[in-house]
Amino acid sequence: QTHSIKSLLNDTVETGTAVEIKGWIRTTRDSKGGFSFLVVHDGSCFDGIQVVANNELDNYDDILKLFTGCSVIVQGDLVESGGKGQKFEIHAKSVEVVGWVENPDTYPVQPKRHTMEFLREVAHLRPRTNTFSAMIRVRNTMAQAVHQYFSQNGYFWLHTPIITASDCEGAGDLFRVSTLDMMNLPKTDKGEIDYSQDFFGKESYLTVSGQLNAETYACALSKVYTFGPTFRAENSHTQRHLAEFWMIEPEVAFADLNDVAQLGEDFLKFLIKKVLENNMDDMKFFNGFVDKTAIQRLETLSDDTFERVNYADALEILKASGRKFDYPVEWGLDLQTEHERFLTEQHFKKPIVVMNYPEEIKPFYMRMNDDGKTVAAMDVLVPGIGEIMGGAQREERLDYLLKRMEQHNLDPAEYKWYTDLRRYGTVPHAGFGAGFERLVSYVTGLSNVRDVIAFPRTPGSAKF
Ligand code: 4AD
Ligand code: MG
Repeated sequence: QTHSIKSLLNDTVETGTAVEIKGWIRTTRDSKGGFSFLVVHDGSCFDGIQVVANNELDNYDDILKLFTGCSVIVQGDLVESGGKGQKFEIHAKSVEVVGWVENPDTYPVQPKRHTMEFLREVAHLRPRTNTFSAMIRVRNTMAQAVHQYFSQNGYFWLHTPIITASDCEGAGDLFRVSTLDMMNLPKTDKGEIDYSQDFFGKESYLTVSGQLNAETYACALSKVYTFGPTFRAENSHTQRHLAEFWMIEPEVAFADLNDVAQLGEDFLKFLIKKVLENNMDDMKFFNGFVDKTAIQRLETLSDDTFERVNYADALEILKASGRKFDYPVEWGLDLQTEHERFLTEQHFKKPIVVMNYPEEIKPFYMRMNDDGKTVAAMDVLVPGIGEIMGGAQREERLDYLLKRMEQHNLDPAEYKWYTDLRRYGTVPHAGFGAGFERLVSYVTGLSNVRDVIAFPRTPGSAKF
């Protein structure tokens, strides 16, 4: 029976038990006294376990040649460790080498610190580092917690389509899906490529958001959420933009803007609680090597109430700050990352929810406020990142919605299915989208979203 290293280090297996582990060598050290000390990892927890092999083992010569990255199966006895820093170790009865490292000198992930830029070049091997195995364990806890949170609160998980004809956000940053025969592209009368024949005759794209589809199910099942990949063909080279990212989108019937602002706050706090419960070893590593305030930041978050502030008031704060920003602060302009970070890091010093943005900078589906110039939008902003969630109360009144669609040059015929919700038993409803990578980035302190997803997709990078 194979043991996970986690189960051995957790005090759940009695010392003296014969155990077997399977994993990869992290470090080796040989003593003159005829012992080789191997630290073996299997990814089940942050730490590896020390294996002590002595020169009476048949293949001791081979064991001396082991190097970081080699795979092994070890059998032996679990014993209390005399060394400091670890509670248990394995006294090996056999060390089977399953896979050698071709050339130790050129093994890309040597046992030393590498830059994040370099590790992105070897994205297939970076999970072997402390940083990336810890990241994936935290990411996994958060993904499980997403489902736990919503399922506990009566939401249904809805699988929305990846291929779609609508541009939910209206930002035009769409990846086109094509079924055209590239070797024999159809031409229009003018001799240009006829893209109207895309996707079996209908222009289609990879989804930027499942929201519009989620609204239809919320208006029948009351509470739903999506959790899946979304795509943005924006040519961004920032720390917080990916071309392919995972989004969580709850949608709630009979809810207003304040309801979903509260939902966003509760949801984020729940994820953080689960990480603190399950991944303290990983978080201690991030706290030590990535972000010195990571744990404290997460621990204090549960006591903070997220400050709610109107867009108009946020502008006043920014103007009154006397700060010189690169981008202008003016009614009708969106807040830039520098503004968001000033508000959360310098002014409020905690997460905030900015609400009621000017209608001209927000998508067509947001509900018009009584002032006739703002919509019931919200962005949740956190220190270190800026926008982590964006949401709104949806326009449930048919006449208002049609008017906004007209302003946004949307064809009512194309969105008939969407406006039908307002024709048949319409209700106030609201929701938000949380970028999963931004959430993981916030929790771990890994500042670049390229480092919190296994295989990042950014402009010019679709390798692996
Ligand atoms: O603000 P966004 O564009 O909102 C929507 O898509 C809405 N339809 C959501 C809804 O109300 N159901 O995106 C939502 C969140 C952002 O706050 C951000 O966290 C993340 O998605 N996001 C990105 N994350 C990584 N890379 C990108 N290029 C992202 N674009 C948005
Ligand atoms: Mg947004």
